Amino acid sequence: MSENQDCYDRWAELYNRTMGPSYYSPQMDLLRRALLPGLQQNAEILDLCCGTGQLIKPLVEQGYEVTGLDLSEKMLAVARTNAPGARFVHSDVRSYREENRFDAIFSTSASLNHLSTIDDLRKVFDNAVASLRRPGRFVFDLNHPGQLAKWWQGRPTEGEITPGCAWMVTPRYATKEQSGAFRVTMFYQPDRLSVTQRFAAYIRRPVYGLMSRRRFVGLRLKMIQNFNRFEPTWTREDVDFPVVGHDLTAVRSVLSSVGFDEIRMETIDGDPNIDDDHSAHFICEKVG
Ligand SMILES: C[S@@+](CC[C@H](N)C(=O)[O-])C[C@H]1O[C@@H](n2cnc3c(N)ncnc32)[C@H](O)[C@@H]1O
Repeated sequence: MSENQDCYDRWAELYNRTMGPSYYSPQMDLLRRALLPGLQQNAEILDLCCGTGQLIKPLVEQGYEVTGLDLSEKMLAVARTNAPGARFVHSDVRSYREENRFDAIFSTSASLNHLSTIDDLRKVFDNAVASLRRPGRFVFDLNHPGQLAKWWQGRPTEGEITPGCAWMVTPRYATKEQSGAFRVTMFYQPDRLSVTQRFAAYIRRPVYGLMSRRRFVGLRLKMIQNFNRFEPTWTREDVDFPVVGHDLTAVRSVLSSVGFDEIRMETIDGDPNIDDDHSAHFICEKVG
């Protein structure tokens, strides 16, 4: 898993400006609906694979005692700045537990798809159930094989061109192997520009601004795919983030075997029918 740490170290700063904030709203809605009801104001909450901590800050502001855990030092460094009132732990999610400490635990943005085997998931679930008080609740999401096969087709799905930086995400999945990866491609403008280069950058800026409009998404992604044709001096970095599609029935049975008393599986909107257009959200209870 040190591979993931290295990947996320390289993405941390950009993640904090892009995906972190853009995932925030739907994930916070989920926490409000599925995790927070019934919790005391000073309840202890653990965010597993917390990334840059976008969800932690508002929870701390609401009075919860929040711990964020992550394997990437760089993601944690940004999270500490975003949520100075929280406690942070640098650890692999498979090996961290604090017996009976937390009232609620969550993990968002399909972070647990980075774990490569069902046995890895078993370790996480076992730690989660041990770390929860009674009553306690564990909420997490997973992308599942049918959904990954349908949507992770090796084509760029999102990307932006901003002053000094362009990026895109390209997810792919191999059904037979039940594994895949999303590639984050980043282009950075060099620190030092000649006068001519500065002028050229100034001229191109409105074009990139226009490209940021929603209706130009197709054109924008094509442009980023060929970005060094437009900006030959910008450096390019590709980072692959491996993921595995876990069978949802097997996941549910592992959750039950480690001791969760009640397990619900639903879409982010609360629909119990998980189809290939939606990821699965597990709501697991250790009852009082
Ligand atoms: C997609 S990001 C999600 C971050 C955050 N939960 C969010 O919703 O924005 C996945 C996070 O999982 C972390 N991660 C991956 N494997 C891990 C592991 N084995 N132990 C702890 N953290 C891990 C990465 O470092 C990264 O910060």
